Amino acid sequence: MNGTLVRADSRADLSSALATFGGRVGFVPTMGALHEGHVALIHRAREEVGPDGAVVVSIFVNPTQFAPGEDLDRYPRTLDADLEACAAAGADVVFTPSVEEMYPTGLGGGVTVDPGPLGAVLEGAVRPTHFRGVLTVVAKLFGLVRPDVAVFGQKDYQQLALITRMAAELCQGVEVIGAPTVREPDGLALSSRNRYLDPEQRSNATVLSRALFAAQDDAVRGSAAALGAARAVLRGVAGVDLDYLEITAPDLGPAPATGEARLLIAARLGATRLIDNVALELGSTSSTPEGGN
Ligand code: PAJ
Repeated sequence: MNGTLVRADSRADLSSALATFGGRVGFVPTMGALHEGHVALIHRAREEVGPDGAVVVSIFVNPTQFAPGEDLDRYPRTLDADLEACAAAGADVVFTPSVEEMYPTGLGGGVTVDPGPLGAVLEGAVRPTHFRGVLTVVAKLFGLVRPDVAVFGQKDYQQLALITRMAAELCQGVEVIGAPTVREPDGLALSSRNRYLDPEQRSNATVLSRALFAAQDDAVRGSAAALGAARAVLRGVAGVDLDYLEITAPDLGPAPATGEARLLIAARLGATRLIDNVALELGSTSSTPEGGN
């Protein structure tokens, strides 16, 4: 940490900026439109590398993870505010490459990272090309930044799981850390896409986290009870089209009967798609809560 934020637009500027640091490198990749969720990742990266390390944030709206018809063109771009947020959070370097800098040979026809079967379920079932784009750009960014540790949000749980596997299975030499989801006071997970919601949709959007928390409360009675509790909450709100509500193992494998699990949800409110997830501790289906019937 040297107290001033260095902005690097090119690979060459990034490597000169990194050369001025001696300690460990912590990395937070983002697409900008930064909010408190991103800021928490920057703080976590600092905790990991310490005051002598370098915290690098990238801001790059990656075209290859958007399918035609998705929100690439209208994705919020708030660079000045983002640079201020990075400086205030104590980042050392912010890497803001152009599309040409990241994809010098063009957007199609190049080498990509295949996410494997885990990239085809949940989000991947709805967005079949998404995780190939995510893993490809994150692999490139890892190659440019060469971090010791990289911090991602649990908010995008499948992305975190896939990046963790990529780093391990492709021997990228980076420790991947998952940081907890930062929420609004009413429970809505912070997301750059929340700003697309009109006031009515914004108020309906809390149904996602309310459903997840209801499931968490009922998980002691098993997965069917947990799902039932979540569905009951979802039924109470109109204008929310559910894409999926699914219990899996923590590594996104098949759901266990009892013990640690994950509950993931995706829903559309008008044109805006929101995702969220929580940890579950599944109890046995035969147990009844104290005083229950
Ligand atoms: P983006 O959506 O900008 O998110 C950047 C990082 O912030 C991700 O690790 C995401 O999980 C995390 N994040 C978002 N909302 C959060 C919240 N409410 N609490 C905690 N963390 C949160 O995810 C991407 O960008 C891209 O796919 C990227 C990995 C940068 C590749 O292009």
